[in-house]
Amino acid sequence: MGDHPDTDQLRVVVGITGGIAAYKAVGVVRALVLAGHDVHVVATDAALRFIGRPTLEAISRNPVDTDLYEGVAEVRHVAIGQAADLIVIAPATANTIAKLAAGLADDLLGNTVLASRAPLVIAPAMHTEMWQNPATVANIAVLRSRGVTVVGPAVGQLTGTDSGPGRMVEPDEIVSVALAVLRPKDLLGRRIVVTAGGTREALDPVRYIGNRSSGKQGVAIALAAAVRGADVMLIGANLEVAVPTSVRVEHVVSTLELANAVASAAERADVVIMAAAVADYRPESVAESKIKKELHGDRLSLELVRNPDILAGLAETRRAGQVIIGFAAETEPDAAALLEIGRAKIARKGSDYLLVNRVGWHEGFATDGNSVVMLDRHGDIVMEASGSKSSVADKLLDVLARAR
Ligand code: C5P
Repeated sequence: MGDHPDTDQLRVVVGITGGIAAYKAVGVVRALVLAGHDVHVVATDAALRFIGRPTLEAISRNPVDTDLYEGVAEVRHVAIGQAADLIVIAPATANTIAKLAAGLADDLLGNTVLASRAPLVIAPAMHTEMWQNPATVANIAVLRSRGVTVVGPAVGQLTGTDSGPGRMVEPDEIVSVALAVLRPKDLLGRRIVVTAGGTREALDPVRYIGNRSSGKQGVAIALAAAVRGADVMLIGANLEVAVPTSVRVEHVVSTLELANAVASAAERADVVIMAAAVADYRPESVAESKIKKELHGDRLSLELVRNPDILAGLAETRRAGQVIIGFAAETEPDAAALLEIGRAKIARKGSDYLLVNRVGWHEGFATDGNSVVMLDRHGDIVMEASGSKSSVADKLLDVLARAR
């Protein structure tokens, strides 16, 4: 296994147990397979009452194991666990958590876990009462004390009409956390502020000027930094993606709100990463009530005023040792011209690094992939990355970890 579990193939056992969130385990398996890993599903009988074996075999590209008494000649009850680099149990029901805490091995998954020395990551999913039951609380504490990584649960909608803590964390976050377990905690203790999303400038109580940034890249950076040990504060502007449970977040709407939030968060930050798409202009005044076409007829002019450049301000006032990173999202199609725009921009803004990426109708914003070139303050290329937003996030953080 090398520096990047993302690129080196791991043998991952995905344990699936019997809760309704089992249908989302397909997403966990798929994300691991797409990241290039060899995935072996061990499902309990109860799990197979929620999702079909053919689905899991098609997505994992491997046979699904369930039965303790199949494959006895190959000593499969221990072989699967021995061969694993990583075990992820998603969802982990209250019952499974109790069995893991007790070290029970009355099914194939229990045997697999006991026979393995690989890191274990579990994503609990259950009703709030079961999660908060002293038995579950004690079992989770036991598992944590043994080094098991517990992802979530998230707070949200549960089965039926209930909602509260107990919802399984989304598959992408489970996979990011799980793969990160194998990585060194090379950002341990670093205080990192990340902005994400796109600001909205109100025109009236119901309308705004905004942009198409979803927040995916910034959220991926925040999550990747958290799993590498950083103390992360995310400032989210109108995020269209779920915030990882391991990240603190402050939600903002407009550029001025973002500026205030960043200014106070930056006071104690070692690194500020400005991945948000920030509006350069805002309406000079915000109408108290809805702007009416009956009043304006066929043409309507809006007067816009400049917003403060937050990144340039941060760079100017940064403390010694504080690292300020910006993004430059540009529609320039020519790669060389795009780089020149980036070089001019970092010179103007004074940040330590700038990640230049092309955006357009179909790239950059609101997509799952990204392609960036990272420049240092001399305009030299220090990193180039192309791939999922989480792999881009990790390459950016590699630069930070190295530059320490
Ligand atoms: O000038 P431009 O908008 O292309 O710069 C992009 C970078 O500057 C991003 O990191 C963005 O978060 C930041 N920015 C800012 N304040 C603004 C506009 C952009 O901090 N008013």
